[in-house]
Amino acid sequence: MSYISPLARPDHFPLNRRWETASVSRDTGHTVRSRNIRRIFNGKAVLDGIDVDIAPGEFVALLGRSGSGKSTYLRILAGLDTGIEGEVIVAKNRAVVFQDARLVPWKRVLANVLLGLRDPDAHQRANQVLTEVGLDRHTQAWPSTLSGGEAQRVALARALARKPDLLLLDEPFGALDALTRLKMHGLLGELCERYTPAVLLVTHDVDEAILLADRILVLTDGVISLDLAVEVPKPRLRAHPEALSLRSILLKELGVSE
Ligand SMILES: Nc1ncnc2c1ncn2[C@@H]1O[C@H](COP(=O)(O)OP(=O)(O)O)[C@@H](O)[C@H]1O
Ligand SMILES: [Mg+2]
Repeated sequence: MSYISPLARPDHFPLNRRWETASVSRDTGHTVRSRNIRRIFNGKAVLDGIDVDIAPGEFVALLGRSGSGKSTYLRILAGLDTGIEGEVIVAKNRAVVFQDARLVPWKRVLANVLLGLRDPDAHQRANQVLTEVGLDRHTQAWPSTLSGGEAQRVALARALARKPDLLLLDEPFGALDALTRLKMHGLLGELCERYTPAVLLVTHDVDEAILLADRILVLTDGVISLDLAVEVPKPRLRAHPEALSLRSILLKELGVSE
């Protein structure tokens, strides 16, 4: 069933804008369908015609330099920014994980995962997903007692307990130390194979994108300047020739010399 977001009331927004949620696009079956998205801040188009589709279960990484508009695009898909031009059709059931875990400090871990869930299976599902992220012994812990990596695992559990059709990740491991980040890559890969959401992972880490994604987009000057399938066999190794060649293409596109 399609559903028009209350955010998209026509009296609030220009006529050239359409923001709609549905389980998949009726036209194409995509979890995300965005067409000619423009977002202007202070007279400057940060996004200047973004056309991106994401298929159900597809893992897409969005790379770009700092300030290129990655978070701006993610926030549009999350429904957090409605000041856009263009057309977005996006899964209604979506979950977001940001760089900081954003846990409610006065609720214990399990209660944080359960926030807003009211269905009869929620409790069992929350416990299960906390076990899957390795936090079954921390369900009654307070957020302030968790390490950064543990807090992000709670944030991931909270997102997955919603069984989202679309998982939006905005540099979710950006604040973690290198070793924890590597562990989180493995965990995220496993969880996505189990829960099969479509994923948009915003990152500036080329290796993270190659390790995890089915497809990598690069955002440059407000448009998608590169859209590449990742054909490195799994389990992925950094030293695989395909990974190395992709890495060098991506770094070049990002303006980084090796
Ligand atoms: N609410 C806002 N008001 C004004 N400018 C904004 C706002 N949000 C983002 N910007 C600007 O848009 C540009 C892209 O920001 P952002 O999407 O956060 O970049 P990225 O996530 O790629 O680092 C930046 O120049 C930023 O300052
Ligand atoms: Mg950002």
